[in-house]
Parts: sequence; structure tokens; C-alpha cells
Amino acid sequence: METQMKLSEAARSSVTNLSESSFIKACRREQTSVTPVWLMRQAGRFMPEYREIRAKVGFLELCKTPALATEVTVMAQEMLGVDAAIIFADILLPLEPMGMALEFTKGDGPQIHNPIRQASDVDALKNVDAKESLSFVLEAITMTRGALKANIPLIGFAGAPFTLASYMIEGGSSRNFEKTKAFMYTQPQAWHKLMNHLANVTHAYLNCQIEAGAQVVQLFDSWVGALGQSDYKEYVLPHMKAVFAGIKPGVPAIHFGTGTAALLKLMRQAGGTVIGVDWRIDLDKAWSDIGYDIAVQGNLDPCVLFATGKEIRTRVQDILKQAAGREGFIFNLGHGILPGTPVDNVKYLVECVHELGQR
Ligand code: CP3
Repeated sequence: METQMKLSEAARSSVTNLSESSFIKACRREQTSVTPVWLMRQAGRFMPEYREIRAKVGFLELCKTPALATEVTVMAQEMLGVDAAIIFADILLPLEPMGMALEFTKGDGPQIHNPIRQASDVDALKNVDAKESLSFVLEAITMTRGALKANIPLIGFAGAPFTLASYMIEGGSSRNFEKTKAFMYTQPQAWHKLMNHLANVTHAYLNCQIEAGAQVVQLFDSWVGALGQSDYKEYVLPHMKAVFAGIKPGVPAIHFGTGTAALLKLMRQAGGTVIGVDWRIDLDKAWSDIGYDIAVQGNLDPCVLFATGKEIRTRVQDILKQAAGREGFIFNLGHGILPGTPVDNVKYLVECVHELGQR
């Protein structure tokens, strides 16, 4: 009884405090007193505490153990002092319940042992009931929401259909995406069927994450920058529209990709409350292309974190100058923190944004 009361009080206070979150406000393009910052891969191998846990459990096992996923998520947010937490999980987790044999091997990254080769492989994909087969992610979200400070929003996430399809067809990471593009060009019907399936799974999964306690969601279309504009329009855009249209209204959704300088306008058309930008384009140019009437997130080169404190500070200042005090700016890297990044530099980056981003 007492626990129940405590829980509902916590839920109420988290609602009131969250409306004061600089990160949520920036997603909605409301005025904030300071620029919010969080970092992709803020929980990962650059942290000694993470490596210690990983010495004992495999990556997939870590993702599938809610108490450990919670510990890692909360630890990163508190240690770095960032303005949001992102649930510890992986974009490839939904591939397993679809029927794909997923493995993370040391050094090689993800591998799928039964990649998609023909139309009948698409027909054989199973539907995903996230509440059943991805319940560990949803449990981790609810647990993390309870463990985070009430004013810190929790970001849920999923892979976008193109990026997921690329892993399913290539069987792992890829440089040129030749198998993916060959499938797209030679079997367009099967491609659209696959993308349609992934879009349905993705928005349903994100809505389950929202129901479990995520206040914001991010769609990772990490590798979509491999496509030209006309291919994006034909093979990706309609499916991204379907994903965004399916996400619970009112919940901010971040639309992220890399190498997307030529695709930003189309990505905006596809949807999202916030558009993610990488470092290959200047932030001011990117924002003027996307339109100042929508929020943006980015865009420091993760490699700057290997430079000196002085350089880090100068680069933060430069990005903030380009953001020009407009509403709707969220500071982040242009892609995830790399293994080997000095922890003190990451902490210093967050301090710099909070100090120089005062308004
Ligand atoms: O950002 C966070 O802190 C939350 C956790 C998170 C992970 N992966 C943990 C992870 C998130 C948001 C992801 C997303 C993800 N996963 C993406 C999109 C973002 C991006 O980087 O573009 C992609 C493409 C994947 C697929 C994936 N997972 C790859 C290619 C790899 C291996 C490469 C690598 O960086 O090692 C992973 C493994 C992975 N996912 C690790 C972590 C912390 C490293 C695993 C380990 O501990 O050995």
C-alpha cells in the first residue's frame, strides 16, 4: 500500500518536473535557460565501469537483463551530468523475434547468420509482439524511469527501416551497402514489403516503449546517408512517414542519420519533431536547409573528444554560435562516443555546453 502511494507520487512528480526539462522544452522549441546536452552512446565502452560489467556478461545478455541495463543507463547519466538518459539496448534487438539469428562477436560487431537473400525470406519474417518478445527492454525502461531523477527524461529508441534492412540483407555492418541496394533495385516489391513490415514493427515497438515510461523517442537511420535523393524518395521516405505517423501524438521524436547533408530536407518531410545532424555539414547551413521552424540536434565530431580541452571548448563555442540562441537546439555529437574516448573529456564537454550555453 505504502509502496503504491510512493510510486504514484513519484509518477506525479516526474510529470511536473519533466515539463521543466530543458531537453523536452528544446524538442518543443520552447525557451530554455541553458542549452540541453546528451550524447549518443553515452553508456558504452569508453566508461571503465561499463567495461567492468561487460567483462562478466555478454552484450546481448546485458541488454536482456533489465537490472543491469538500468544500472548502466542511470550510471552514465549521473556520471556525465547530461540532461537526458537513453535506455541501454540496441537497434538490432527486434531482429531476433522476427526470426533472424543475431550474434555480437568480439571485434566483428553484429552478425546475422541467416541474412535475407530473396523475396521468400521476407515472406518468412515473423511479426513482433514487443510486449512478449522484447519485454526485457520495456521492463528496463520502467525500472530506469523509476531510478532516474524525476527531472531527467528517458529516451526510448529504435532503428529506422532502412538501417535495419541493411543489417538484415548484408548480414552485418557494411561499407558500400551493395547487397542492400542490389535487393532494392532488383526486387522492389520484396523491398517495399520488407520496409513496410519494419515500419509496422518499429512504431508499435516505440509506442510500447512510450507506454513503459520513455518520454522521447529517437529513430536511428544511421546509414541512410548512403542513398542519393531519388532513391531516398522512392525506397525510404514513404516508410519513414508511416513510422512517424504511427508514433503516439505529442511525444517528441528525434529523426537521426549520418552523412545526410543532401537528405536533410527530405528527412524533414518524412517526419520527426527534431532532426539530427552530423558534423559533415555546418550546423547553421543544416538548420537553414531544414528550416528554423523545427528543432535540431547535433553536431560535434566525436573525434574532437580526443583533442585538448582548449579545442573542445572552442568547438562547443563555435556550434553554439551557429545555433545563434534560437529555440529548439539540442547539443549532441554527430554520431556516438567512440571507444577509447577519455572520460574526462566527455565530462568537460558537458560542462562547456552548460557554461557557454547559458542564456
Ligand atoms: O546510446 C546509448 O548509450 C544507448 C545504447 C545504444 C547501443 N547501440 C549500445 C551498444 C544505442 C542507442 C545503440 C544503437 C545502435 N546499435 C545503432 C545506431 C547508432 C549508431 O551507432 O549509428 C547501430 C547501428 C547499432 C548496431 C550495433 N550495435 C553495432 C554496429 C555494434 C557494434 C559496433 C560497436 O560500436 O561496437 C553494436 C554494439 C553495441 N551497441 C555496443 C553498445 C554499447 C558495444 C557492445 C560491446 O559492449 O561490446
